[in-house]
Amino acid sequence: MANRTDGPLDFLTPALDRLKTDGFAMQWPTLEAAQGPRTILSGRPVINLAANNYLGLANHRDVRAAAIKAIERYGAGVASARNACGNLPLHDELERRLAAFKGCEAALITQTGYAANLGTLQALFDEKDAIVSDALNHASIVDGARLSRARVLVYRHGDAADAETKMAQARKDGARRLVVVTDGLFSMDGDIAPLPELRAAARRHGAITMVDDAHSVGVLGPGGKGTAAHFGLKGKIDIQIGTLSKALGVMGGYIAGSGELIEWLEQRHRATFFSASTLTPADTAASLKALDILEAEPERVTRLWSRAGYFREGLRALGFDTGTGEGPLIPIIVGEAARATGLRDRLLELGVFVVAVAFPIVERDAARLRAIVTAEHSEADLDEALAAFKTAGQF
Ligand SMILES: Cc1ncc(COP(=O)(O)O)c(C=O)c1O
Repeated sequence: MANRTDGPLDFLTPALDRLKTDGFAMQWPTLEAAQGPRTILSGRPVINLAANNYLGLANHRDVRAAAIKAIERYGAGVASARNACGNLPLHDELERRLAAFKGCEAALITQTGYAANLGTLQALFDEKDAIVSDALNHASIVDGARLSRARVLVYRHGDAADAETKMAQARKDGARRLVVVTDGLFSMDGDIAPLPELRAAARRHGAITMVDDAHSVGVLGPGGKGTAAHFGLKGKIDIQIGTLSKALGVMGGYIAGSGELIEWLEQRHRATFFSASTLTPADTAASLKALDILEAEPERVTRLWSRAGYFREGLRALGFDTGTGEGPLIPIIVGEAARATGLRDRLLELGVFVVAVAFPIVERDAARLRAIVTAEHSEADLDEALAAFKTAGQF
């Protein structure tokens, strides 16, 4: 084959074969229309239960118009890191708006939510420190913890008592800085972290509390302000991570917290200042507009929860195991990877697009489909999807 060297990369052939025979190879389907409750996937019209477009903002007319206007004024990109010459008034404005939205002194935007977690853990902790982390935290937290070189103590999923035991252990062993970190709304199970208990334990052990609101902003709490707001902990969580790529429908991430935290990250968040991939004018303006819409139309959040409740109940009535979560991200746990991919394929044939998730993203025997309901799905869309689940589940 042209352009294929032989020798050092040959280990990939059996590794790829194994992934495929075990059913763990991911698919990269091609979206051929805009995100929405219905879209076109690889030539096929589908009901779309796969995107994190919780509030239906990814293709909102005003969001698109804001992006176009920003391109016309500032161009397609800034070709520079923020600290060199890539800082636009739009970036500063978005940071001010995100800080106010989260009830924090300041915020820093990053290229992705992944980069926000990675760079924050790396910038604050090193081998003298300890990171106490939920067993089901997102990969970007896991990777950021590794990058920091701090000691990592993993606590049982959602178990604040176990987290406290781990904090006590780290203190006993002489950790300098200590942080407890959790997803707010878990990305594979859709359940909510016990943030008040985690924070109380953190206070007892002089630990920092960090929450990743990637799936919570626009979803949880009054006005979709996230996990801290959901639990009435405004101003009480030291570090709040978020993304612009899910409920806000665009791309980018951010960190919100005290003025000093953000000032430190501006100096030490390597993923930001070693990268000329600054959030583009279009992404920044689109995110600002999406935030405007979220603040002006909180009923989108209410609608999201009622549609999600409707769909979850429908799945349960059909006998599917939807786990213990509550929100719009609904796992349908089936066990083996091959069962999950089989169910996904049958659903696709029936015109319903749902992502299958298997090891290493979840435990080996906990493969699942992950259905994401949005505020834009009508009951008719959801009824049609439930009918497909009924048929596909009969195999
Ligand atoms: C909990 C959590 N944190 C962080 C991220 C990364 O965010 P982004 O997609 O903006 O890189 C994700 C997304 O996949 C996530 O689910």
